[in-house]
Amino acid sequence: MRKNIVAGNWKMNKTFQEAEELISELVTGLEKSRHTCEVVVCPPALYIEMASDYGHEEGVIKIGAQNVSEYEKGAYTGEISAAMLKSMDVDYCIVGHSERRKYFGETNKQLALKIERLLENAIHPIYCCGELLEEREAGKYFEVVEKQIEEALFHFSKEEFGNIVIAYEPVWAIGTGKTATAEQAQEMHAFIRRIIRNKYDEETAENTTILYGGSCNAKNAEELFANPDVDGGLIGGASLIAEDFIKIVNSF
Ligand code: PGA
Repeated sequence: MRKNIVAGNWKMNKTFQEAEELISELVTGLEKSRHTCEVVVCPPALYIEMASDYGHEEGVIKIGAQNVSEYEKGAYTGEISAAMLKSMDVDYCIVGHSERRKYFGETNKQLALKIERLLENAIHPIYCCGELLEEREAGKYFEVVEKQIEEALFHFSKEEFGNIVIAYEPVWAIGTGKTATAEQAQEMHAFIRRIIRNKYDEETAENTTILYGGSCNAKNAEELFANPDVDGGLIGGASLIAEDFIKIVNSF
């Protein structure tokens, strides 16, 4: 079902002590806040157990992972499987973040396999898509996003698709302080919903949660979230500061 979600992507930041401090500040702050959305925190994999202990105890935070293996199990040194994540109470997992596409060469085909593993283990994938600056400037942004969604997601059944969250993250806006305008975000989110409607049906399109990511912060979140097709955010930099993240969570 479509719900508003604010998810924090901590990326490769924080020592264990710093991470524990941030989680504890978040839990304390969120307990007092009157937020109406689901809050997801995606710490580095090493800290999932700690974050999950805090989050579940208080029931205010869901835990997400930043990555998952495309393989089920076995001799894949350094990898973490979807079943392992599930056994640590992970509910969401980011898939296909532009940094993973760029630095680790992840392809749509590989991402489709990761999503398959997650769905088999009842974990919601947060599938990231978004165009590069040159693709936006060349007017190819709809085409690029459509291809990313088509190739990684559209072979899933309607029922399977219903468990997937989409995050539109224009690459030129990630970590740059350059946010998409509310109009640009709404335009792309409406487009994404339209292609889902064309592929599946009205109900599936209406029920899909589509998040915006890319320099979303405590100042611009309200304007972005006010758009009818923007159902929340995937937050990088601003999720590392408890006060800012809580403000974003309260921006609906
Ligand atoms: P940012 O990152 O908020 O720091 O731009 C967003 C993301 O990469 O998910």
